[in-house]
Amino acid sequence: MKVLLLGSGGREHALAWKIAQSPKVEKLYIAPGNAGTSRVGENVGIAVTDFAALRTFAVEQGIDMLVVGPEDPLVKGIYEDFKNNEATRHIAVIGPSAKGARLEGSKDFAKEFMARYDIPTARYKSVTAETLADGLAFLESLPAPYVLKADGLCAGKGVLILPTLEEAQQELHSMLEGKFGQASTTVVIEEYLQGIECSVFVLTDGKHYKVLPVAKDYKRIGEGDTGLNTGGMGSISPVPFADETFMGKVCKRIIEPTIEGLDKEGIRYKGFLFLGLMNVKGEPFVIEYNVRMGDPETESVMLRLQSDLIDLFEGVHKGDLDTRDMQSDPRTAACVMLVSGGYPGTYKKGMPISGLDKAEATGCVLFHAGTTVKDGRTVTSGGRVIAVCAYGENKQKALEKCFQAADELNFDGKYYRHDIGFDL
Ligand code: AMP
Ligand code: GLY
Repeated sequence: MKVLLLGSGGREHALAWKIAQSPKVEKLYIAPGNAGTSRVGENVGIAVTDFAALRTFAVEQGIDMLVVGPEDPLVKGIYEDFKNNEATRHIAVIGPSAKGARLEGSKDFAKEFMARYDIPTARYKSVTAETLADGLAFLESLPAPYVLKADGLCAGKGVLILPTLEEAQQELHSMLEGKFGQASTTVVIEEYLQGIECSVFVLTDGKHYKVLPVAKDYKRIGEGDTGLNTGGMGSISPVPFADETFMGKVCKRIIEPTIEGLDKEGIRYKGFLFLGLMNVKGEPFVIEYNVRMGDPETESVMLRLQSDLIDLFEGVHKGDLDTRDMQSDPRTAACVMLVSGGYPGTYKKGMPISGLDKAEATGCVLFHAGTTVKDGRTVTSGGRVIAVCAYGENKQKALEKCFQAADELNFDGKYYRHDIGFDL
């Protein structure tokens, strides 16, 4: 079959790497892709939200399956766009409808959805400029710290955690006054949950589901989880506390009511569902829903997925996911992200990357995140540059291999965290 994968990050290189291993795949295209994806498939210079160009390309090339990496095209309705056009209706789209994508695209929708189905999540109140007084009163009823979330998509920047009531009140005003533009005309105020986070990835055909290997990501730039938030500095899979008992609760209290709720409301959902969970003393709470895979969790999750991803995707499309096999590697997978100096603030681009062959010779798998090819050389093109991934019989062994490869790789300003997995 011919597959078109959308996106250009480390997540997409990891998905492309896994998809390309399937004997069912005759041709893999990635739009727009990066220097890494071009080694496992063919990059196509089309933006992920240029639906008309993607449709034309899909028809011309006889694409059978469209796999959507990032959330933006899903929230903007790529599923409907392909399904409502005669020429592309037959193509299997791996990703939810726009209605389903509201689980990520609107925090307010997600919270109301969870309330309807009794899915455990932090207590909350949604406020707009008209209901500001209610919001301020709700803040006063909560203990510190305070969590404020812009309702809409903000590229991961729309969540503020404020230590004092005064700061929370001030930020609530500034968010409602447009701090995040349209995205924060509604703000969700939440109770702060104390615990440890993990990322649970579910693949669903709308009725049945499979739980992929659980991972934990590390978002802060500094060691010990300090400093600014980034797109993610590394990940580990599995997560020891996500044991059978914990995952039993996750399935019963969260995954099953979510899939049943979507189905009951007539919302088409065939794709990945990503639960950002907080483990509060052994009880799982939903921090957020995402409608895609996580980055940099995908990098370690794809290493551990042993089954044919395309076979699972066929199950998603046909609605017989329950009959498909899903096995995972018992070893630990680690991912260490090499980033550009200065990231997540300003940083240089176009820095030549050396040592790629030597790093791969260590046995690590390298997933490109922000790279491009310029005059025949691989150069940096983003803040997150390369995800260095490895297996090990435990976390330490996997990380040792990642660090060995990370030392072989060089570019001006290279930085990475040495403490990925420190809290597990
Ligand atoms: P989100 O974009 O919703 O994932 O939020 C970003 C980060 O803020 C999460 O990964 C958590 O670390 C933190 N966070 C969000 N909501 C809460 C909450 N209710 N309690 C504690 N931490 C939270
Ligand atoms: N690693 C978290 C995310 O992809 O949103």
